[in-house]
Amino acid sequence: IGSSLAEAYADYFLIGTIYTPNTLVDPERSLVIEQFNCITPENIMKPESMQPSEGYFAFTLPDAMLKFAEENNIKVIGHTLVWHQQSGRFLGQTSDREKAIEQLRNHITNVVGNYKGRIMAWDVVNEAVKDGAPLPADGDWTKCLRETQWLRSIGPDYIEMAFRFAHEADPDAKLYYNDYNMNDEVKAKVVHAMVKDLRAKGVPIHGIGMQGHYDTNVSIESVEKSIKMFSELGVEVSITELDISVNDASVSKSLTEEQEVRQAIVYAKLFKLFKQYKDNIVRVTFWGTIDSKSWRRDKFPCLFRNDYTPKEAYYAILDPEKYL
Ligand code: G3I
Repeated sequence: IGSSLAEAYADYFLIGTIYTPNTLVDPERSLVIEQFNCITPENIMKPESMQPSEGYFAFTLPDAMLKFAEENNIKVIGHTLVWHQQSGRFLGQTSDREKAIEQLRNHITNVVGNYKGRIMAWDVVNEAVKDGAPLPADGDWTKCLRETQWLRSIGPDYIEMAFRFAHEADPDAKLYYNDYNMNDEVKAKVVHAMVKDLRAKGVPIHGIGMQGHYDTNVSIESVEKSIKMFSELGVEVSITELDISVNDASVSKSLTEEQEVRQAIVYAKLFKLFKQYKDNIVRVTFWGTIDSKSWRRDKFPCLFRNDYTPKEAYYAILDPEKYL
């Protein structure tokens, strides 16, 4: 391509994309090496992949990812340790609290411990907060937690336990709380209260991940409000799963020129904003490299076409001012 996103943002933050085993194969391999300096595994480090049956850990696929990353000077994010999805049929699926705590400890200790010193940051707890549940007047954020296997089996303190176990297993890794719809004020206030409270209790939580599954109607002001609010907690903020769907894309066709440009302008506005918060934002990671492999492929949210050529969005991020 002759330009590199990672280089263009070297003075600001890391630029990441997702990793799947297919990333090891060209042309994706070369593209990732050229454009990005950080990767997040899309699925291979989720609980059900890391521990497919109880007590059996599967390190082969992540090992290959780490080898690729280390050979190419690419940082790796661990995703994810505690989630309500893709977590198999045993983790947290018990009414015995002590057993659930042991499962939580065992999973985190083995996974994080195995990669000690090699993973820059972990998404420790993913999507634990309910949508549309306002923080109560008494400030008790635990009332806004999603009903998950971990909440049921352990109670709200599964969150702080997860962070403590992860910190014990790798004291140098940055530990994140990661969630979507973080530009929604209602949810952002709950997360803010939770992280503030946990930090006051000495829980090792170092960052907030704003996923960033937006569409072309996203309000830039809403994103800014949340970045600002989270930054004021004194934690790192990262954009962990950015993709901008074209809301009126039609599944069977490719994007029109107008749609590509409209998407590019939204990316440009967001990156202009991210640059302003470079002291707080450590990384911006895209959730997908080419449209056809995205989890929202019908909405063409990525920077690259199915043939790996860059879209307007790519050039807009390279030089946002040109598109504003
Ligand atoms: O691996 C199986 C395969 O064996 C099977 O034949 C096939 C048939 O459906 O399914 C495959 O599993 C799929 C898996 O992706 C791997 O491709 C699952 O069905 C599918 O549900 C799963 O989707 C992933 C999704 O998380 C699960 O919730 C997406 O790829 C992944 O992009 C998405 O990522 C999440 C983040 O982890 C957290 N934040 C939201 C984000 C988007 O949903």
